Amino acid sequence: MLRELFTLWRDRGSRLARSLGQDREAVSIDARYRRCRAAWQPHLEATRDLILDAARAAAGRELAMVLGSGACLDVPVAELAGQFRQVVLVDAHHPRPARTLAAALPNVRLVAADASGLVQATLDAARGRAPLPDPVPRPEVLPGLRPDFTASVNLASQLAIPFYKLLPRRVPESRRQAFYRGIVQAHFDWLATRPGKTCLVCDTAWERADGETVLDCRDALEGVVLPPPDRTWIWRIAPRPEESPAYDRQNRVVGYLDFAAVWPAPGLE
Ligand SMILES: C[S@@+](CC[C@H](N)C(=O)[O-])C[C@H]1O[C@@H](n2cnc3c(N)ncnc32)[C@H](O)[C@@H]1O
Repeated sequence: MLRELFTLWRDRGSRLARSLGQDREAVSIDARYRRCRAAWQPHLEATRDLILDAARAAAGRELAMVLGSGACLDVPVAELAGQFRQVVLVDAHHPRPARTLAAALPNVRLVAADASGLVQATLDAARGRAPLPDPVPRPEVLPGLRPDFTASVNLASQLAIPFYKLLPRRVPESRRQAFYRGIVQAHFDWLATRPGKTCLVCDTAWERADGETVLDCRDALEGVVLPPPDRTWIWRIAPRPEESPAYDRQNRVVGYLDFAAVWPAPGLE
């Protein structure tokens, strides 16, 4: 706990990262990774393999963009930097390991951005200055870039979570649910309309399990249903006794090598 507080104190995020709570989240991810490293390894390798297999199919070699890069535990940054002239890593917060990695690779650039594009609009709505966007608009993430390859990496299930706190209680429950769902849907619509090849890795369900028996299961995508994936696996995110001595926590993960090919076209930009 002391180590986590110290890490946060040394690596406090920007205003954006703090609004989304992602600097704190990065410290928790790092701490859990250190405790559960062996259990996470198959998931991290499966994610990296899928990204590299998808990237190989990209027609151009100019620019690769990765969203949700975080500490880059699951992102094959050096390999991508060897395949593309430039690699842009996008996250609300780039913790120290990502900054160290990028500093060692001259063609890797870190960009701090809100992948949902909704932080300011939600804060305005919370202060009563504007209505909550309805429908949720498709985000504009670095609109000037035309990547040959874009990967969204273990991000989609995380997008709505900070808004649970940002949205005021006076907003009716059904309205809030529709907003969270819209955030996830808009992210997939955005990803599927990128130029170049697109790749998606995300968790779809959060489970508590006892060995092979699933005790309960929660949807991780706010009700958005994805088409059949190219690959699936389980992320053993918190084997006992990490969260409880009574159960293991695990996430169902899906991977798409060519997301735009399977996601219903929302209309090109
Ligand atoms: C589960 S982590 C992904 C793991 C990460 N690839 C790694 O290897 O450490 C989710 C990431 O999404 C980022 N994130 C969540 N919401 C975001 C948003 N609105 N905009 C940009 N990044 C966001 C978090 O900062 C975090 O790094």
